[in-house]
Amino acid sequence: MNLRDEILNWKAQRNAVILAHNYQIPDIQDIADFTGDSLELARKATEIDAAAIVFCGVHFMAETAAILNPGKTVLVPDPKAGCPMADMLTADQLRNFKAQHPRAKVVCYVNSTAEVKAESDCCCTSGNAVEIVRHYPDDEVIFVPDAHLGAVVAKKLNRDLILWPGYCPTHARISPQDLLDLKKAHPQAIAMAHPECPLRVLQVADEILSTGQMCTFARENPAREFIVVTEEGLLHRLRKENPAKTFYHISPYAVCPNMKQNTLEKLYFCLRDGQPVVTVDPATAARARRAIEQMLAWS
Ligand code: 13P
Ligand code: SF4
Repeated sequence: MNLRDEILNWKAQRNAVILAHNYQIPDIQDIADFTGDSLELARKATEIDAAAIVFCGVHFMAETAAILNPGKTVLVPDPKAGCPMADMLTADQLRNFKAQHPRAKVVCYVNSTAEVKAESDCCCTSGNAVEIVRHYPDDEVIFVPDAHLGAVVAKKLNRDLILWPGYCPTHARISPQDLLDLKKAHPQAIAMAHPECPLRVLQVADEILSTGQMCTFARENPAREFIVVTEEGLLHRLRKENPAKTFYHISPYAVCPNMKQNTLEKLYFCLRDGQPVVTVDPATAARARRAIEQMLAWS
């Protein structure tokens, strides 16, 4: 049996479902039961009828699945695949920040730890952040941890938000010049940028979209060429779903080393051994669940 068949065999034996983020390597996207963005994966995690979920992404995504499924086993291929942006804000730091703005509501990007979610009023993803903050029209809002996404929301809603200076190191490596050069080389192409990019990059993009929204946009838009201003893993899905269209990646530096920790070999071992398991302390999980469920109810 080859590795792929071994994985499918163990997946059946464990009654498991494989979820993968759009930034995973092609081999993992191709073997997954479902590939999507953070919002789509969080939704999917509430609909799963299986004993185990293998989450191929980064740690906070698996934690979110575990929080939403207290009775299920959540496995990850590599427990060291974390998100540096999520690690830029601890629960203690958020508690201190809240103490400085005692009347503010807290909206946390899903790229955050379970402890930070537990301290928040509502969660959001890049696909629904504007919609979620709109639910607090008259409140001061603390937005954590992504200052870039927060700035996009503030600009769109034409209001001030209290931002935490977190950011994604992968998207921070993208420069406006990278995009201007590609636009010059491919003047017909539409530039789709992720809101984790710095504002000066977003200012020269045509569309600001989550990775799932980029897939829908590229499928439905009649244009034939697109510049993809986000992590390179998404290119595999875009090319597979749109074989007649051309996609240009923004930069060889826009690769998330954390997302790339997961490999088919690690996926195989994780299914065979039933570990590593991701767990969240039940009291923290209960408080974090309120913030995630509020997001799902509002989006
Ligand atoms: P989305 O896929 O939800 O747009 O988020 C991207 C991301 O950075 C996940 O870490
Ligand atoms: Fe975190 Fe950025 Fe990697 Fe997404 S791309 S997992 S935000 S480091």
